[in-house]
Amino acid sequence: MRMYDLIQRKKDGRRLTAEEIRFLIKAYTNGAIPDYQMSAMLMAICFQGLDDRETYDLTVAMRDSGDCLDLSKVRGITVDKHSTGGVGDKTTLVLAPVIAALGVPVAKMSGRGLGHTGGTIDKLECFPGFSIALSEEAFLENVNAIQLAIAGQTANLAPADKKIYALRDVTATVDQMSLIASSIMSKKLASGSDAIVLDVKVGSGAFMKNLKDAKKLAETMVRIGQMAGKKMAAVITNMDEPLGNAVGNSIEVIEAIEALSGRGPADLMEVVFALGVKMLVLAEAAADEMEAYERMQTCIASGAAKQKMAEWVKAQRGDPSYVWDTGKFPQAAYTMEAKAVKEGYIQAIDAQAIGTACMMLGGGREDKESLIDLTVGIYLTKKKGDFAAKGDTVARIYASDANKGQAAVERVQSAYTIGGQKEEPSAMIQAIIDTAANITNSFYI
Ligand code: URA
Repeated sequence: MRMYDLIQRKKDGRRLTAEEIRFLIKAYTNGAIPDYQMSAMLMAICFQGLDDRETYDLTVAMRDSGDCLDLSKVRGITVDKHSTGGVGDKTTLVLAPVIAALGVPVAKMSGRGLGHTGGTIDKLECFPGFSIALSEEAFLENVNAIQLAIAGQTANLAPADKKIYALRDVTATVDQMSLIASSIMSKKLASGSDAIVLDVKVGSGAFMKNLKDAKKLAETMVRIGQMAGKKMAAVITNMDEPLGNAVGNSIEVIEAIEALSGRGPADLMEVVFALGVKMLVLAEAAADEMEAYERMQTCIASGAAKQKMAEWVKAQRGDPSYVWDTGKFPQAAYTMEAKAVKEGYIQAIDAQAIGTACMMLGGGREDKESLIDLTVGIYLTKKKGDFAAKGDTVARIYASDANKGQAAVERVQSAYTIGGQKEEPSAMIQAIIDTAANITNSFYI
């Protein structure tokens, strides 16, 4: 088999066989195919696409390029949740303890943040001592003991995807639907859970800018998972403005703890419940979504979910006292205020611009090697639909450097669109994809 012939075939719009896809992934991963040939193949895929069967074969070939976690020793139906990435997205920090407190094992591998989006692993490291480098044995022990463990992705989890993603990043081939779906699903399948619930973000701060594309991506991923024998669901959620009020590492952890104490912002809680009911139903821990919803509400109201968060932090060698006293998280040196530049209603908040402002403060990574400052962030005191008089504070900026703080104030102010007409926030839950062919609305929309 010659890579040249495969590129030619895809360029001509023909389908690649499973064997050809396995060959190209294996040979590229072990260095037998050079970057320039893989780049040409990726570009041919961007122009000609992959059908469902090819997309599935690509996913499985990338999954099998490295280690697959064996969760067969975990008691119960394991569930995983994945977000396609957003700004202010601390959903996992709230959802994981709730689901675990309800007895469903959550065994999850998470990533670090890159660019304008944050990562769960960075947020967890706000707890002093918290370790994301668990051995496979410790990971499984924790899941069996407290129903919850989150580890960083191991170097050998879908290494083909790692190498191809880096190439896509520099060849303008990131935004092809089949490439995104196979990249995400190869890692999810390698992580070994029985059920996977996907949070596909749509809007200005997301990969998918419109609902049609988000639905297509969600359906493709649900189909891949089902073909691989997984229980699947996807929820398409709004990312036109940041989720919740806090954007930044420590302040997002504090907001998540508030949410577990029953004081979560409405938009965040809507997403938490939408994903959570799917997880509980797929894990057979509730007969239907209504029962799942009620179980989640009781779990938060009783304090069981917050208690689970403390157990989890302790089990991963973090200091659980921070869960009970969030004043212990270190504060940034400067607090500054972004003001409304005119009177009116907040009509839009550019999520990507807020994410970038946080990154520039030092709260996110410009490249994989960047060190991040966990104390900096942006707290949005006004969100879409709120009224602001000229000069009212719309956001607080937490900065470690006064100049960077001032630059963030300006960025945040220009991320706000203020106008005379009140516009309601967009619906948080835009669609639910339960089966690849079937798009339904959920009862709480
Ligand atoms: N996240 C991934 O893991 N892969 C993509 O291609 C896009 C988002």
